[in-house]
Amino acid sequence: MKKNTLLFLVLSMILSSQYALAQHDEGHEHTPLEEEMEHIGDAWKLVRRAIRDPEQFSAAAEQVAIMIKHAKKSIDMEPSLLAEQDGAEAKKKFLEGYQKGMKQTLALLEELHAALEAGDQTAVAATVDKINDARKKGHKTYKPEDKD
Ligand code: HEM
Repeated sequence: MKKNTLLFLVLSMILSSQYALAQHDEGHEHTPLEEEMEHIGDAWKLVRRAIRDPEQFSAAAEQVAIMIKHAKKSIDMEPSLLAEQDGAEAKKKFLEGYQKGMKQTLALLEELHAALEAGDQTAVAATVDKINDARKKGHKTYKPEDKD
């Protein structure tokens, strides 16, 4: 096979897989909660990077404030898995558990904001760990499995 033909084949494979991915993304309508979680997730990435350097604590605090704003909105939204819970009682329990988890996370975010403003490195590290645990626990119980 000629070099150019091979190159052409490889390039078209890459392009068509990119196209398929783009199609997939467009096909999926984001739920309002997913939109909020995406904002929370984007800010969280920046927070985790910024906390490595105490000089960046105030920049990190600004991102945590963004997370707090979106976490507050998330409390009153419904996880998509709510629809899959059987019966009114199970739905109620699911929603209450979700809201409790979000409220606890919001309290931790407020704690982190205070620790960053106080420049308290030990408290920052401990609270970040607690938030990561809350995220993992919340996602394990309330989020569809195929997403992070
Ligand atoms: C700092 C902590 C958290 C971060 C960074 C975070 C981040 C994310 C991200 C990136 C997604 C995917 C969004 C998408 O699919 O486009 C997501 C989805 C989700 N998260 Fe979180 N999350 C956090 C905490 C929590 C907590 C504590 C709970 C529950 C108590 C929770 C419940 C959910 C649910 C239910 C979804 C799926 C949305 C739906 O069902 O419509 N998350 N989260």
